[in-house]
Amino acid sequence: MQRGSVRVDPPWSLQAWRDAARRGLQANAAPAELDWLHGTDASLLDAPALPEATDDGAAGSVPRAFLELAETCLCHRDPQRMPLLYRMLWRIRHGERALLSNPADADVLRAMAMAQAVRRDSHKMKAFVRFREIPGQADAFIAWFEPDHFIVDRVAPFFARRFAGMRWAILTPYRSAHWDGRTLSFGPGASRQDAPDDDAREDLWRTYYASIFNPARLNTRMMQQEMPARYWRHLPEASLLPSLVRDAAGRVQEMHDRPAQPPSRRIPVRSQLPPAPAGDDHADSLAQLQRQAEGCRQCPLWEPATRTVFGEGPADARVMLVGEQPGDKEDLSGRPFIGPAGQLLDRALQELGIERGQLYMTNAVKHFRYERRGKVRLHQRPDSTHVQACRPWLMGEIARVRPERIVCLGATAASSVFGRGFNLARDRGRWHTLDDGTRGFATVHPSWVLRQSDAGKREAAYQLLVEDLRQLV
Ligand code: URA
Repeated sequence: MQRGSVRVDPPWSLQAWRDAARRGLQANAAPAELDWLHGTDASLLDAPALPEATDDGAAGSVPRAFLELAETCLCHRDPQRMPLLYRMLWRIRHGERALLSNPADADVLRAMAMAQAVRRDSHKMKAFVRFREIPGQADAFIAWFEPDHFIVDRVAPFFARRFAGMRWAILTPYRSAHWDGRTLSFGPGASRQDAPDDDAREDLWRTYYASIFNPARLNTRMMQQEMPARYWRHLPEASLLPSLVRDAAGRVQEMHDRPAQPPSRRIPVRSQLPPAPAGDDHADSLAQLQRQAEGCRQCPLWEPATRTVFGEGPADARVMLVGEQPGDKEDLSGRPFIGPAGQLLDRALQELGIERGQLYMTNAVKHFRYERRGKVRLHQRPDSTHVQACRPWLMGEIARVRPERIVCLGATAASSVFGRGFNLARDRGRWHTLDDGTRGFATVHPSWVLRQSDAGKREAAYQLLVEDLRQLV
């Protein structure tokens, strides 16, 4: 066949790429005979455009996993992604239906690596976009961000959900996203000068960041890996980092030299829930159970903690994740898994395409156990007495949510759910059946991943977590 060309516009759109691929397949154009043109760029040397595909049947059925991979890969900047995906589609259509199950195949490997890079870039965008108030406009914000790939359309819905109540725009060099409080729209790229530089909130943010910075947890290699220097120019807290890092060792030494103090009592925060009806001692709903747990005095952990951190998620969730106990951030906010371990967990879930909002997340122990060193509250592992005292609440959650699958993160959760003989090193990742037929397994705790001493070990530990969680997919 003579060479032909197809155009994909916008060049990250799965729909546009599928239309182009249909044309190619209908014209029976082998991968080597097809030129892929991106966006609106045109040249006199372009091969003639292939005619529109006349029916949808030209694409035939394509495995869903391939379409998902293609959707992510198309956001990569590599101009070879389109011919690569077409070659894979061609091979699938010509008898290699199981192509994607061969991870050693060069095309599959390359596409997976592109998808991985896009996911990483998307994760960074979620983590490092910082909104600045537009001077003179109440509640309107702009952020400037420079992604590596074409990820704005993919990530903007996340910000629309997260910041639904404010008006914002995210500007990038190739595209901008706008949210007016109701509708998400997209426009052309912009330049750095179009976004305000600094706003009054940044001082507040820097003060907050400096106060939550824990010198004992400083790991500069991890920090550089998680927050590469090229993002620093967008982050208000970046200006603090050199001095925080420089002073960290001295502050840790000082903390160690200081004698441990008994935890100071915090003012308990009143429950947002209405009070339990008098005489109703049988909790038949999660909300009632939560209310009861808020008054729990079965062990001493309630007293120094800010609040009971109960589980969160749909009451009919099919999967329940059980952690150890809330950490510092969870204790302050009242929500499980929102601190560093929770963020790592979010990253793993996202990588696997699991939506956090579909999971019920809770902990074996509902109060934060810690030791106070100066201003810092250092996590202390709960004892078996704390786990036992809290077990009725966890069992109550399981009985009400009735998940099909339970995943225990770490040994504390596993011993509460599967029994005290559970050995995480031996039984990690293996399915177990509880008496009521619910199936579950235990995997490593995300905090354990974060505690690994170097980047290589951390990556290996993270992969263990991801591979175990993959059993849910
Ligand atoms: N670690 C846990 O086990 N649970 C949380 O909620 C946060 C950190």
